[in-house]
Amino acid sequence: MNGKINDEALIRLFRESGERREFLSGEEVARELGVTRAAVWKRIRALRKGGYVFETSAAQGYRLIAGPDLSEIELRSLLQESATVVGREILFYDSLGSTNTVALELAGAGASEGAVVIADSQSSGRGRRGRAWLSPPGTNLSLSVILRPDLSPREAAMLTLLAAVAAASALQRTTALPVSIKWPNDLMVRGKKLGGILTEIRADMDRIFHAVVGIGININLGSDDLPADLKGTATSSLIETGIFRQRAPLAAELLKELDLWYALYLAQGRGPVLTAWRRMSDTLGRTVRAVLNDEALTGVADDIDDEGMLLIREENGTVRRVSAGDITILR
Ligand code: BTN
Repeated sequence: MNGKINDEALIRLFRESGERREFLSGEEVARELGVTRAAVWKRIRALRKGGYVFETSAAQGYRLIAGPDLSEIELRSLLQESATVVGREILFYDSLGSTNTVALELAGAGASEGAVVIADSQSSGRGRRGRAWLSPPGTNLSLSVILRPDLSPREAAMLTLLAAVAAASALQRTTALPVSIKWPNDLMVRGKKLGGILTEIRADMDRIFHAVVGIGININLGSDDLPADLKGTATSSLIETGIFRQRAPLAAELLKELDLWYALYLAQGRGPVLTAWRRMSDTLGRTVRAVLNDEALTGVADDIDDEGMLLIREENGTVRRVSAGDITILR
């Protein structure tokens, strides 16, 4: 008995027995974890302060009723045994400027592949094209994953597409919302934006040194929290379902799904990602308007190519390849 408790193991134990609605005595927990009963009581007291709710029975012991909305211990206990790459390390912060900025710094300093920087809130969250991203305290999911794929920079768009597929699948499963993907990486529900992805890389001409895939999802954001300019275009899980959700289980499902899609992409290449993206897209087959640097074009979004570019067929039959920018779905 070394007296030191692994909090994640303690929570997993209580979660498993809690799912069976069973109590665990201090003695059983102490035996299972190889620690003293006093150490178990001490940790339960500390976990209660961290937002865990335990029911106590003098005769039977403790039962876990609920965990905190989002915390490092909760995320680790939900994740680490299952993580192959994504989620092997969790770096949790109460508040940050931007998880992408911090993840890029950490990656440059040698942080390991799969490390996740996650924050309860961001004071200067970044969106695509230099836009600001809203991440108030206690509300949304804001996380960034460090990846080190042995790929050329031309493949970087695939990381964004696979992250969009992973996030859309995890959200569909956990919230039952009809989440689709608007090219290239907006997560949409009923025509409004639920979340977005910002992938940033450090690379030379031939090779990616590291990539940071940042994912932001509006979870418990109320409609009153939306600034006027976003009211007609943005939404959240709360606005769509009326249900407040705990963020840790959502983050864990998202990271597990990302782990699966990243492994699949490295093993089998672009095929499965492109197939899934096409299936989840709300863009293909629609008439869209794209604003490029010096012109705007309108046409039918026919497909995406192997590099994730959107192929727009203009009325005269010309197919244009659009690499970046914003599109508006017209009909
Ligand atoms: C978009 O414009 O659609 C992309 C939004 C990406 C926001 C996320 S929140 C977590 C990560 N950190 C950031 O500063 N941005 C990304």
